[in-house]
Amino acid sequence: MSKVVDMDWGKLRFDYTKTDLRYISIWEDGKWDEGKLVEDNKITISEASTALHYGQQCFEGLKAYRTKEGDINLFRPDQNAKRMAKSCERLLMPTVSVEKFVDACIQVVKANEHFVPPYGSGATLYLRPYLIGIGDNIGVKPAPKYLFGIFCVPVGPYFAGGMKPVNFTIADYDRAAPFGTGAAKVGGNYAGSMMPHELAVKAGFADCIYLDPATHTKIEEVGAANFFGITKDDVFVTPDSPSILPSITKYSLLHVAEHYLNMKVEERDCFIDNIDEFKEAGACGTAAVITPIGGIQYKDKLHVFHSETEVGPITKKLYDTLYGIQFGEVEAPEGWIVKVK
Ligand SMILES: Cc1ncc(COP(=O)(O)O)c(C=O)c1O
Repeated sequence: MSKVVDMDWGKLRFDYTKTDLRYISIWEDGKWDEGKLVEDNKITISEASTALHYGQQCFEGLKAYRTKEGDINLFRPDQNAKRMAKSCERLLMPTVSVEKFVDACIQVVKANEHFVPPYGSGATLYLRPYLIGIGDNIGVKPAPKYLFGIFCVPVGPYFAGGMKPVNFTIADYDRAAPFGTGAAKVGGNYAGSMMPHELAVKAGFADCIYLDPATHTKIEEVGAANFFGITKDDVFVTPDSPSILPSITKYSLLHVAEHYLNMKVEERDCFIDNIDEFKEAGACGTAAVITPIGGIQYKDKLHVFHSETEVGPITKKLYDTLYGIQFGEVEAPEGWIVKVK
């Protein structure tokens, strides 16, 4: 029986907590080492690391969920592994195999098992894999050495006081260029999003929505989440664009809508001028599963979907089904759940 950490699980937020052990593996001379768990939560890297100067780095985010039976589930970690490999390829960094990635996630969760929040608290253990260019280098070129690490932090339920819709505004800035790095989970995309986010919050919104960078007519991302809308005839629609981060939650919801809720699904353009085709809308991602969108502010007008205070019925069903799959209460499609314990 592992020791239990004494925490007010229900009050946890999305903050850093130092947990016991983290995984580190180093790539040098063309290969990754075995990797190991370490206690130290500090890493020492060259002042000339490409990660520091040229943003040669990427990361991932996924969660471990405690089930009613006390088991621990990882949700589709192979998909995070594949997405990280794509981010690495885009930045000329060495990839980590799916096996190594998933095995490292399992090692980290097992080593910090007592930090996995109890079932029913709504809290989860968030895993943060990252891969960075390190070693001595000064020119703009790929690093001579790389570090792949994973640490974990317990995080609180996203909707502590129940699921509530929030309002968003359209950003005056672009998140990604048409043929840039928008589809990769690289730090530079997030550094550039901090100012538009802050401006949106100061204006009274939860976050901003980015339109497509080429024409500014189509919805791309909702802050750091993907967009979906439910049309008046119950079609689940989500944007299709090469500059959107391919959200694992979005692809899971496409499957849930089609195969669990028997809805029609479409990945296609979502024009901001045609926003009233949707009766419900939401933002989706690992953090919240779904954040219902109450309204979108565009050109001095707030377009409200279902309601600014109540969650739409289809959004709720999508949320409950995917949440149920993650916590082991609803049967998952084959391969979606990796049991840590
Ligand atoms: C920009 C962006 N879009 C979408 C998502 C949602 O992706 P996922 O569902 O894989 O968490 C994230 C979070 O990782 C993100 O950072």
